[in-house]
Formats: sequence, structure tokens, C-alpha cells
Amino acid sequence: MRGLNNGRPGRPGDAVLVTGSSTGLGLETALCLASKGFVVFAAVRDLAQRADVLRAAAERGANLAVLRLDLTDPESIEDAVATIVEATGGIYGVVNNGGIGLRGCVEDCSPEEIRQVVDTNVLGTIAVTRAVIPHMREAGCGRILTVSSVGGRIAGFGVTIYCMTKFAQEGLGEGLAVELAPFGIQSIIIEPGIIKTTRWSRHRGTAERAMSEDSPYHDLFWASEAEADAIVDRNKTSPEQVALTIHRAITEDEPRLRYVVGRGASVAIFARRHLPEQMFERLYYGRQVQRLQRSTASAGTDALAEARR
Ligand SMILES: NC(=O)c1ccc[n+]([C@@H]2O[C@H](COP(=O)([O-])OP(=O)(O)OC[C@H]3O[C@@H](n4cnc5c(N)ncnc54)[C@H](OP(=O)(O)O)[C@@H]3O)[C@@H](O)[C@H]2O)c1
Repeated sequence: MRGLNNGRPGRPGDAVLVTGSSTGLGLETALCLASKGFVVFAAVRDLAQRADVLRAAAERGANLAVLRLDLTDPESIEDAVATIVEATGGIYGVVNNGGIGLRGCVEDCSPEEIRQVVDTNVLGTIAVTRAVIPHMREAGCGRILTVSSVGGRIAGFGVTIYCMTKFAQEGLGEGLAVELAPFGIQSIIIEPGIIKTTRWSRHRGTAERAMSEDSPYHDLFWASEAEADAIVDRNKTSPEQVALTIHRAITEDEPRLRYVVGRGASVAIFARRHLPEQMFERLYYGRQVQRLQRSTASAGTDALAEARR
């Protein structure tokens, strides 16, 4: 895009840091970039995960380095970036992928749970970004890719706080694109739709009070969770598609500001962009509320209990 793209595209041999590489989209992205010749630093929160990442890399015939980076620990972020710069003389790219979820209506999320997700997804992403910018500025090139979500463009029932952090990432990524373009650095936002990863099982991040039958949102929330799980099961978008999109965004001559990944996400974002606002709100949000109300009116406790499992 004219004005925004002043630097050079990434090429094999460039150093790229991928946060949250222990599993899911981060692991797949680290493996994909490494197999395409990038010098990948796969960052994990806990070095106990190192062996698993190296095993996955060996299985794919990919070479990468694993280092520790906890998004809530500023010192670990500084150390990780210093290690990369010392080893390679600079850092071409960062994939701000690491993050956590928080599921539950706003009233059901505790201040501590909210602080944790804001610390990780927002403040952690900002800290990593601020740590790499000086090195990119010095080199006159670089790409900062932030893995937001379709939830960064369209919020939804029972995931408001998570979506709020993704909206924050969207604002960060967009503002950075303007601030950094004069220095040859591109900021790019990746917006995946729903993809089956540990995000939907082990890392689901359900707020404690959302589990309680005392919550006034209890039945609605579990009906919306059942709806989300049905979409996860139906969805055919794969982590590989996200990784390949990230590779494309790093290597394209003129990258876009945003890349949407997955059919469902593309349709929803297209509708939001092109439908008159009130029509979108009625069709998307209005119908969601109606559906949830209908299903809680018709669902027995057994169905809701099943969704909770
Ligand atoms: N899967 C989806 O449907 C979907 C859709 C849209 C956007 N996304 C976004 O894509 C990104 C990756 O999601 P995913 O589906 O791959 O989820 P995931 O399987 O839960 O992976 C999340 C990664 O983030 C790491 N992480 C969590 N807290 C961290 C911290 N404090 N410091 C460093 N790393 C931390 C996790 O490390 P540990 O293993 O140590 O916990 C893990 O490696 C997230 O930003 C998510 O919001 C996912």
C-alpha cells in the first residue's frame, strides 16, 4: 500500500520471533517459517516446553531455536530480544501470537481474571513490540505481525473481555502501521476465525463465576458455549492456513494492513463492512440474542450440563 510500505519484504535468513510457540497457531507458524528458511526463535512461556517444540521441529525437518518469553514478565521479554539480537545482529520480524482467552459475561469475570487477560494480550503484546522496534528502526526494515481475531472486529456474547483485548490489539496494530511506516517498518494484523486448537480445550479460560449456577447468565452463557463448540467442530480452517498467511504477510512486497483467515471470519467481516450498521446489528447481534433465548427456553438442564463438559 503506497505510503505504508517503505521497507523491504522478509526473506530466508531473516530472524523472526514468534511468541506463544508451545502449541496451536504459534507452534505451527514457527515450524512453517523455519521450514521456509527463516531464522526462527520460538518463544515459550516455560522452558519445560522446549523439548516438545524441538521434537515437533525435528519431525518436520525444521531448524529453530527455543527461548523463554513470558508476556507478563517484562524482564523475560527484554532478555529474549537481547538474545536474538546478539545471536543474529538484529531482528526482522515478530509474530505477536501468544495470548489467553477469558470466557464469561463481564459481570461474571473477576477483576483478577480481567487483569490477567489484559496483562497478557494487551500489555504483553505492547511490551514485545516496544522491545523490537528500536532494532527494526536501526535496520530500516521489519514487520510486526499481531494475531488478533475476528473477535477484534466483532464482539460476541460471553467473550466481551477477550474481544476487548483483541479490539485493543487492532488499534495498536493500526496505529503502529502509521507511526512506523516512515522507518520502513510494517505493522500487520492477522484475523483468524475459529480454529480448533488447545484454545478450545485446555486453554479455554472460562471465568470461575461463569461456571456457577448462581450466575444470572448461566443458561445463556452455556447455550452460547454450545453454539461456539458446534462452530469449532464444523470449522475447517486449520492452523496451517494461519501460518501460511503469516508467511505471505512477511514476504509479500506490498503487504496489506489486515489479513482475514477462514471463510466464516471473512463472511462476518465482509458483512460488517458492507451492510448498513443497523442492519448488521439486527441480523448478527439481534439474531444471536434471539437464538440464545430460544435455546435456553427449550433446552433442559441436561443439555446445558452437557455443554459445560
Ligand atoms: N484458535 C482460535 O480459534 C483463534 C481464533 C482467533 C485468534 N486466535 C488467537 O491466536 C493466538 C494463538 O491462539 P491459539 O489458538 O494457538 O491458542 P493456544 O493453543 O491456547 O496457544 C496460546 C499460546 O500462547 C501462550 N501464552 C499464554 N500466556 C502466555 C504468556 N503469559 N506468555 C507467553 N506465552 C503465553 C501459550 O503458552 P502456554 O502453553 O505456556 O500456556 C500458548 O503457546 C491467540 O492470540 C488467540 O487469541 C485464536
